[in-house]
Amino acid sequence: MRRAIYPGSFDPITNGHLDIIERSSRMFDEVIVALLLNLDKQPMFTIEERVEMIRAVAPASNVRVDTFKGLLVHYAVAQEARFVVRGIRAISDYEYELQMALMNRRLEPGVETVFLMAGEAYSYISSRLIKEVFKLGGSIDGLVPKLIEERMHAKISNG
Ligand code: PNS
Repeated sequence: MRRAIYPGSFDPITNGHLDIIERSSRMFDEVIVALLLNLDKQPMFTIEERVEMIRAVAPASNVRVDTFKGLLVHYAVAQEARFVVRGIRAISDYEYELQMALMNRRLEPGVETVFLMAGEAYSYISSRLIKEVFKLGGSIDGLVPKLIEERMHAKISNG
């Protein structure tokens, strides 16, 4: 069983994430989209909302959504996953991703990080930028699924 973890904050999930999920789901028997429970950050959506939103827009049969806390490699071992998937957009992602991949390998050599190049249409988008543009009234059409855009509208109107 080739099981991979696709970890992240997904606040919220973007079309760039979905592209990586879709492509990795064709490479592995199972992909677990794993949301980090990070109490330090002030997210737009709660962890429960993010899990539900990902389940709604990433319905492939071999994709599972879960949460984790602590070290990613400990979670991967507990899930019997030998692969971690990360998307790389621009060269600016490389340094941070390299550090994480090397640290994770040092901590757990049995877990291999696999990098997928982001689709060119998504190479400049991030959850952070999408939230900023959205909050300032700019269009995010085509950058997140319609359902996610609706949830963002609801979140802003309901506070
Ligand atoms: O989408 P993000 O926010 O860039 O994802 C970062 C994430 C969740 C992959 C990273 O912060 C992580 O793995 N955190 C878990 C704690 C951990 O294992 N830290 C050591 C990484 S070398």
